[in-house]
Amino acid sequence: MGGATSGSTSTGGSATGGAATGGNSGTLQALGGNASGGTATGGGSAGSAAGGAAGASNGGNPAGGVPQATGGANTGGLSNRGGGAATGGSASGGTNSGGKPAGGSATGGAGGASSTGTASGGSTVTGGTTESGMLAATPPMGWNSWNKFGGGVTDTLVRGIADAMVSSGMQAAGYQYINIDDMWQASSRDSSGNIAPSASKFPNGMKALADYVHGKGLKLGLYSDRGTKTCAGLPGSYSYETKDAQTYASWGVDYLKYDNCSPAAGSNIQTDYTNMGNALKAAGRPILFSICAWWFYNWETPLGQMWRTGTDITDTWNTDSHSFIALLNNNGGWSSRYSGASYGSPGLAQYAGPGHWNDPDMLEVGNGGMTDTEYQSHFSLWAIMAAPLIAGNDVRSMTAATKNILTNADVIAVDQDLLGIQGKPISTSTTLEVWSKKLSGTQTYAVVLFNRTTASADITVTWASIGITSASATARDLWSHTDLGSIATQYTATVPSHGVVMLKVVGD
Ligand code: GLA
Repeated sequence: MGGATSGSTSTGGSATGGAATGGNSGTLQALGGNASGGTATGGGSAGSAAGGAAGASNGGNPAGGVPQATGGANTGGLSNRGGGAATGGSASGGTNSGGKPAGGSATGGAGGASSTGTASGGSTVTGGTTESGMLAATPPMGWNSWNKFGGGVTDTLVRGIADAMVSSGMQAAGYQYINIDDMWQASSRDSSGNIAPSASKFPNGMKALADYVHGKGLKLGLYSDRGTKTCAGLPGSYSYETKDAQTYASWGVDYLKYDNCSPAAGSNIQTDYTNMGNALKAAGRPILFSICAWWFYNWETPLGQMWRTGTDITDTWNTDSHSFIALLNNNGGWSSRYSGASYGSPGLAQYAGPGHWNDPDMLEVGNGGMTDTEYQSHFSLWAIMAAPLIAGNDVRSMTAATKNILTNADVIAVDQDLLGIQGKPISTSTTLEVWSKKLSGTQTYAVVLFNRTTASADITVTWASIGITSASATARDLWSHTDLGSIATQYTATVPSHGVVMLKVVGD
């Protein structure tokens, strides 16, 4: 038979508003390579409302050239458009004061409808510590404040988010880290040199907040920077690595995102990140190390559990090099910066596996700048790439459509599969794509049929192309949650513009 055609899984939806992207991004000028000197000129001008310590940081941090590309072959310009060596990138003088708009009214608020969650089969480990003690045995899952709230982080907000993670079913779906990004800190260290939270934003201190989050069965993440200041101009951890790691451990912190702004004069990126990585290991508490150096470097793989592979995401489909499509291309092995890379080439996927993951940046699902169809694609492609799933929306008030995307147990199971293989595009078409990911189990694969074009289109996957050797295979549609039965040879689906059809396929 063959040629079965399924309906699309589009949920329609429309882009509303737009969550004021830009902000922290600065202008990316590294396309085409050779972004010498760090062209980023300042990030957002917002931030003041959130009480953001301004401070001259190296604005527009991730956008400019790649700072201090030390060794390795990772010298392409940011994004993947081509070659030149991205030197410099220190881009001083920007006034990246807070980046994202303050937003976030931080008024607690109980989250959406309760749900019992529908954790389906597949793996049971979700990004945490396994019995064997490995951190991030599967891609970390959680939530981060930055994409939606920028500098508007407060104790009230974080407690409200933690509550909503439970009541909305996000926790049951596997999300466990509640990560506070930049601008939680006081504007200076205390008289003993200790890092401290802003007293106005976190009047109860971080230990009490960690206790609250832990009481929900969740984990707490914090943010710092390998330089003298964070990207928002608050105190960085340079030369305070041991002290800060001990402080985090004493508060009960479980996760550290470590950024790349304001490097100290004469410092070295690898040394700086290694110092914090070692300090965390010595701190006496398992703390997941999320390296945020805006680029892949070979030295990151033994050091962190995840590392950003590119610049900051914005809530846009394909506007510029911060858009979803650009970050997908960068992380996904498509049009890769690795010379000679092509479909099916190893690309960054070769570096992903249990305990260490490529991070194409956090999710924008539910933030309003893309349609629900596009968010479905975003989530599906992050899942097939075994990317960390760090939600970035207001989970206290998300729509049913957003919740359905973020808690899709079938799709999450693909991301969390215990083999830990990063899926890749395998088609020759660069507009109507087929991606596949080997899953645990004999002849078992996830497939994403992805339509980049502006019209709906049929996309076909042949079983042979993904590695299935039997004549037929049994397929399940992971968005409509329907079993499609045993199908011979290949499957064709009508895929909406900017949408996906996602399958689990098992050879018969
Ligand atoms: C950098 C990071 C972002 C975010 C901001 C905070 O731009 O890449 O993810 O943490 O800093 O200032």
